[in-house]
Amino acid sequence: MTPPTLPHSRIPASRDAPVLRWGIMGPGWIAERFTESIQAHTGQVIAAVGSRSLERSKAFAEAYNIPSAYGSYEELAAAPEVDIVYVCTPHTNHHTAAVMAIDAGKHVLVEKPIGVDAYEARDIAFRAEAAGVFAAEALWTFFLPKFDVIRQIIETGMLGTITTVVAEYGEHFDPSHRIFDPVLAGGPLLDLGTYPLALITEVLGSPQRLHAVGQPHESGVNAQLSAVMQFDGGAQAVVNTHLHNFTPTAATIVGSEATLAIEGPFNMPGAFEVRFPDGTRLRHEEPAGGHFEGLHYEAAAVARAVTAGSTQLSQRTLAASIATLEVADEIRRQLGVVFPHPKAPTFEGKI
Ligand SMILES: NC(=O)c1ccc[n+]([C@@H]2O[C@H](COP(=O)([O-])OP(=O)(O)OC[C@H]3O[C@@H](n4cnc5c(N)ncnc54)[C@H](OP(=O)(O)O)[C@@H]3O)[C@@H](O)[C@H]2O)c1
Repeated sequence: MTPPTLPHSRIPASRDAPVLRWGIMGPGWIAERFTESIQAHTGQVIAAVGSRSLERSKAFAEAYNIPSAYGSYEELAAAPEVDIVYVCTPHTNHHTAAVMAIDAGKHVLVEKPIGVDAYEARDIAFRAEAAGVFAAEALWTFFLPKFDVIRQIIETGMLGTITTVVAEYGEHFDPSHRIFDPVLAGGPLLDLGTYPLALITEVLGSPQRLHAVGQPHESGVNAQLSAVMQFDGGAQAVVNTHLHNFTPTAATIVGSEATLAIEGPFNMPGAFEVRFPDGTRLRHEEPAGGHFEGLHYEAAAVARAVTAGSTQLSQRTLAASIATLEVADEIRRQLGVVFPHPKAPTFEGKI
């Protein structure tokens, strides 16, 4: 019998993508990583930056050679030289910022999570569709070359029937980090947990049952949570996320024919293996890397989709973003974790 081989990534070079003119809304930590990555690896143009402070906006524009700097998000949303707004403010501002850009007729790429809950995600989806503009969540993992290979492995049935997904993500943060701020929807769930939950819902869909346990942090946010889930057909998933310290951030997808073990951090560029019961191991080699090596793939995918007239990304549909947040909402409901939100979370009994 011919031994199986792994498929290859079909992701084109980011530099070959058609060019959009981007506006950065919220020039903070991830805005720097995004700008550095796409300026180095693509022909995309960062045309403008908008901050709550003109001083910060000008400093960012100067550091990255960006032609326009605005002292408010409103001005950036209205800027005629911008095709698409990249919303990279803290989570609690994603919905407001995205709606502002959509109302101004702009396409939007919103950092993960697209909203603090499924309600906000649904509202963004509804408004973008009504306005006829593009909207997507910047879940960069799903645009990496390795994830295109993982998708093919799953779609072709190489793993057999998937029975189990186990994924975790823990990190250490300086005490001054916004993750400790309850007002900014702190705690590990949205900053870190979005990745394992997105992987689980991408592979297995929405759970039928979920049981979560949590541990509070002295700052008032959740410090750690774990959840077990059961899906149609009996498959199970386990997630753990916390802000105590760094973990391998590994993910494992188990099937009846083979196991896919993604080396940590699974959400960033790197290698993985498909392991068969007879000891055969098929290895996907990809240089391990961080944001600089990986963020440009999502920008290139967005540029291709927008230029082709699509209003969503097939690699991360808005329905998929909503499904992930529905699980996060249910975990919070069970743990009694409440995020600041003008409206009550609208859990619709899907779990
Ligand atoms: N894809 C990834 O790998 C990745 C990594 C890290 C973070 N993220 C996501 O990106 C988002 C931003 O994270 P970050 O770490 O870059 O955040 P950050 O540096 O703490 O803040 C980003 C910017 O948001 C603006 N902002 C607006 N309202 C704010 C408020 N109430 N408090 C503080 N800043 C506010 C600030 O810019 P101005 O005041 O100058 O406008 C700030 O510089 C988060 O939703 C996070 O989940 C994604």
